[in-house]
Amino acid sequence: AFEVVAKKSGKTVQVADGQSIVDALATVGIKVTVSCEQGVCGTCLCTVLEGEPDHRDVFLTDDEKADNDQILLCCSRARSPKLVLDI
Ligand code: FES
Repeated sequence: AFEVVAKKSGKTVQVADGQSIVDALATVGIKVTVSCEQGVCGTCLCTVLEGEPDHRDVFLTDDEKADNDQILLCCSRARSPKLVLDI
């Protein structure tokens, strides 16, 4: 599990093992627009302000993944205990 801080919304949520960030955000009323839900389309792209994503998508290039400043919320997770997102 890890923590996600939704900075714009001013909310913090725990993401359980087996739960997506999208699902966790939905529990605190933050709706993320999704389409494929498989890390393919890029619809759920979000800016990462702090923390290190664990990229599980096939949308971002390897260089983009290495920059750690964007994340696909439908499938990717966190390597750091906390992610701060611009949402
Ligand atoms: Fe398609 Fe997340 S909904 S990449």
